[in-house]
Amino acid sequence: MQKIPYDEILNIQRKVDIVDVIGNYLSLTRKGKNYFAICPFHDDHNPSMSISSEKQIYTCFVCGASGNVFNFVMNYEHISFYEAVSKVASNAGFPLSFKNISKVSLKDNKYDKYYKMFDIVNKYYQNNIKTVYGKEALSYLHKRKITDDIIKEFEIGLSLDDNNVSKLLKSKGYLESDMVDIGLCGKKDNFIYDIFRNRITFPLCDIEGNTVGFSARIYNSDDQNKYVNSKESVIFKKGDLLYNYKRAINYAKEKGQIIIVEGFMDVIRLYSIGIKNVVATMGTAITKQHAKLIRRLSKNVVLCFDGDKAGEKATISALEVLNDIELEPKIIRLEQNLDPDDYIIQKGKDAFLSHLKNLMSSIQFKLEVNKEKTDFNDYKEVSNYVNSIAGELEKIDDKIVYELTVKKLANETGLDVSTINSLVSNIPKKEKKIITKAKSITKNKYEKAEEYLIYYMLKDSKAILLYQNKVSYLSNDKLSQIAIKILEFYEKKGYINVTDFTLFLEDNNELIDEVLRIDSLNMPDDVDICVIKDYINTIDVGIIKREIDKLKEKISSEQDVAKKVVLLEKLATLKKKGV
Ligand code: UTP
Ligand code: MN
Repeated sequence: MQKIPYDEILNIQRKVDIVDVIGNYLSLTRKGKNYFAICPFHDDHNPSMSISSEKQIYTCFVCGASGNVFNFVMNYEHISFYEAVSKVASNAGFPLSFKNISKVSLKDNKYDKYYKMFDIVNKYYQNNIKTVYGKEALSYLHKRKITDDIIKEFEIGLSLDDNNVSKLLKSKGYLESDMVDIGLCGKKDNFIYDIFRNRITFPLCDIEGNTVGFSARIYNSDDQNKYVNSKESVIFKKGDLLYNYKRAINYAKEKGQIIIVEGFMDVIRLYSIGIKNVVATMGTAITKQHAKLIRRLSKNVVLCFDGDKAGEKATISALEVLNDIELEPKIIRLEQNLDPDDYIIQKGKDAFLSHLKNLMSSIQFKLEVNKEKTDFNDYKEVSNYVNSIAGELEKIDDKIVYELTVKKLANETGLDVSTINSLVSNIPKKEKKIITKAKSITKNKYEKAEEYLIYYMLKDSKAILLYQNKVSYLSNDKLSQIAIKILEFYEKKGYINVTDFTLFLEDNNELIDEVLRIDSLNMPDDVDICVIKDYINTIDVGIIKREIDKLKEKISSEQDVAKKVVLLEKLATLKKKGV
């Protein structure tokens, strides 16, 4: 999506009320000037998110999540900042005056011809399967229990054993170079030929539902490659799309769950038996982009990869990527190395449904995988096993599940429950957002001075000018980035206020959270300029002090006497300058 100009963003923000917008997602209670809600960004039980209608800002005093109206929608819906701006605008009935935002122009127009070419070819393939040439392909699909309705729904088609695609596209005025660029055709010695020949075709769609590639399966030949896939192109990146994504959106919302499988045949099978909240990674490892798409569908994720060793490996690596964005998927492991398609064909729908009712937690899964790898007669291996599990045990927040898991582990290994418990408490608690809050960290006066300077820079242009003229740098990296951004904002806009400044930071959640945390410090608002100058002095002294400390360290480790003397002289000058 294109960048939306700051003034347009500000314009919309002024027109809407954050209380109304958040009120559409959460139930709010009014207390004085502010509204309160159960925070959706952590496991909240008491309303800890406050929404200020005066500032048009939300803040959670437990997990620290905070921001303006667009940040809320962006974080709640897992969409981009610009998508959130456009959504808030259109929901409120204020179409963006910024032109390029309409749905049609979300994609770059120069690729339109590619989408059209895929559309033409997709329709052509779909038609082929209905002709006399399609008989064998149809009977192959029917044998696999793929019905005509499913063939229609998934736009399954057939490529013939000829070069008709290039001819068809040429007759419609498309260039050979474009056909080759998007992987529909190849060219050799000036001869243009079709890539997909004599195969059953499955269109692959991007997240907006445009066909951007094909996967094509053999059905009546002994070609070595089971599937031939479109090569990647400017509109087709395998790591950016999930098979069945568009169709699954509503079903996932309805069920409050999304199931991930490896193959698109698995999707089609699940869909056929009425389980429609399903997408496939299509044989590739889950990428970060996949993970984000999955989170948009639902936070309740079920991984159901093939039952073989490769599927187990894929599950382990998928868990890592999904854990990284705070998803804790549930797992299904199918027996006898079967993939979901074969499993359902052989064991029936009910057998699959019972798996779906008895999901494995990711911790349970990791326990079992590690257990399989362990030789219980080798004490060193047992020790490694227990230690690796101890890290997982940390994550269990249900007391009962925790106790049962520890007991099981004790039984397996012959260790005492207390030994295992001691290992767990020895491992530093994996910090959740709540614990990393700056509140718990005590700061020295130099660090505090940097924060206070930012506090006033967010309110008063005099502080910004002092920063510009008198401060060489801030030692805290985040604060330093914020200060630079404030200066940039002030130079462009000629004023400063916290809410508008957060709009300027767009989707930089980390900085926004920090800005709003500092803004909520209880400081006197009307202060004399001398106070701010004092902070700047303190910051300067802090800088010199850090240099002195560094120098002292160097001196103590320096062996060469001459060099040591030089360093000592440097130290003396610094000391005069500073403290
Ligand atoms: P599988 O080999 O598990 O395919 O590959 P499948 O779903 O069981 O297919 P059928 O049942 O034999 O028809 C899983 C996914 O890996 C990709 C495909 O996207 C497939 O859906 N794949 C597999 C390829 O791209 N090429 C291949 O040759 C094989
Ligand atoms: Mn299969």
